[in-house]
Amino acid sequence: MAAKVNVSLFVPEKLGTIDPLIYGHFSEHIGGVIYDGIWVGENSHIPNINGFRKDLVEKFRAIKPSVLRWPGGCFAEIYNWRDGIGPKEERPIIRNWWIGDDGRYETNEFGTHEFIEFCRLVGAEPYIAANITSMTPMDIRDWIDYCNSPAGTTTMARLREKNGHKEPFNVKYWGVGNETWGGGGNMTPEVYGHEFRKYSVIMRNSASNLCLIGSGANHNDWKWARDFLNVVENSDRNMGGFSLHFYCGTQGTATEFTENQYYRLLRQAADIKSAIDRNWGFVVGYGLEKHGRLVIDEWGCWHKGGSGPSADLINNNRQAAANNPNRVENLFEQQSTMRDAVVAALSLNIFNNNPEKILMTTVAQTVNNLHSLFLAGDGYMICTPTYHVFDMMKYHQGAKALRIISDAGEITYNNPENGREERIERLSLSASEKDGVITVTAANLSYNDELHFDLKAYGVKLQDVCEYELLTSDDVHHHNTPEEPEKVKLSKGILNVNDEIIIPPYSVATLRMKSI
Ligand code: AHR
Repeated sequence: MAAKVNVSLFVPEKLGTIDPLIYGHFSEHIGGVIYDGIWVGENSHIPNINGFRKDLVEKFRAIKPSVLRWPGGCFAEIYNWRDGIGPKEERPIIRNWWIGDDGRYETNEFGTHEFIEFCRLVGAEPYIAANITSMTPMDIRDWIDYCNSPAGTTTMARLREKNGHKEPFNVKYWGVGNETWGGGGNMTPEVYGHEFRKYSVIMRNSASNLCLIGSGANHNDWKWARDFLNVVENSDRNMGGFSLHFYCGTQGTATEFTENQYYRLLRQAADIKSAIDRNWGFVVGYGLEKHGRLVIDEWGCWHKGGSGPSADLINNNRQAAANNPNRVENLFEQQSTMRDAVVAALSLNIFNNNPEKILMTTVAQTVNNLHSLFLAGDGYMICTPTYHVFDMMKYHQGAKALRIISDAGEITYNNPENGREERIERLSLSASEKDGVITVTAANLSYNDELHFDLKAYGVKLQDVCEYELLTSDDVHHHNTPEEPEKVKLSKGILNVNDEIIIPPYSVATLRMKSI
């Protein structure tokens, strides 16, 4: 079926600036993210730049990753930064946080210097999540000192120079713990409130102009946010970011799902809007908005494991796997279909439409883990459909968000978990303007219907010619594999903005238009 939708774009109304940091990423020492994914080592047969997988660096850089969060996640809470500096051969091998799940040890080949170098290679700001459960405030102070003190000043700055980097790394963004309600210390909100006060005062004392990010709630756990901020309230008014983690998933598998499971996953993803509103309400309620905004530093789809190429490799070639006892399926590696691409566009549209509330978001995770942009192993490196969404939406970074609405209405479906009728919007939209160019991103959430999109812009006269990028496929389950790396790929073209624009079901389109 085809449905006609009228879309109205109100150019004079600016909703705020879309912080480039909204287009950020997360890379943890878990499964195949760092080792095999980003880092292959200088002596690898895989083409690399100083040990970093070359094709991944190039592809990643192209989509302008604004910020990269590291080293975890849960891993951050057992990470001793001193293990990851100095000569590689002297760095200790430790038990990874996730060793119980995938048997991997941490070699510490990739440490602070490698992280900063990778950030510089791809053009991202570094964001370090500090360990506050198994390191002291003084240890974190030393880490900040090591990263940020001017050349030749402190003992830590000299140690950095001895390890090959004279100039400071100038890391501005520091997380004060991770998921402190769970893996990060299993704290109550009140206990974390006191820990935050303690660590943040020492961290701030270690360098100027730091942006400290408090570890916030999971999903809609507003009570946690309230009780934590209640303790923090009268002390640290300089919390630059208040974090929120939001995953959606377990609707079928990554690659096999029904129509109702498709819609249910999208509905879960769309609920991030209410989590943003609630958490923002507390930020404002406690008067913290003058200094900080929300940081959604883990978001994306979390499907059942076992759908990625590393699982295929082991399942299809047990002999090879048996010959290599170190070859394990990457923990939380999953395939990414057109459904995940639509979730990514829907989420980024929501972030674009709330620029005054959101400082930063980092999707989980860059490669071989959860809602990845890349899947990489020995002999392959592929981009997922989600990669293309980040590519086609990069133009919104730093642009002024505009109001855009449609009469597309809602779709009704049955929640597969309880049979109840639920609804989801048919069309997800966001728009922005930068340097005289207007960018509109439209995700058609329908499973069946193509949308005939009639765009009217108010308060501006547009040139007739418009650039068009479309991510679509014949089947919503389609995804890229090492054998078919471009089954889902971006198409680009030019069209007349006055013509009807057709967006196929479960597809994402970006329009780029200039005013006269
Ligand atoms: O992203 C994987 C894990 O999910 C992270 O380590 C943790 O913070 C979250 O629970």
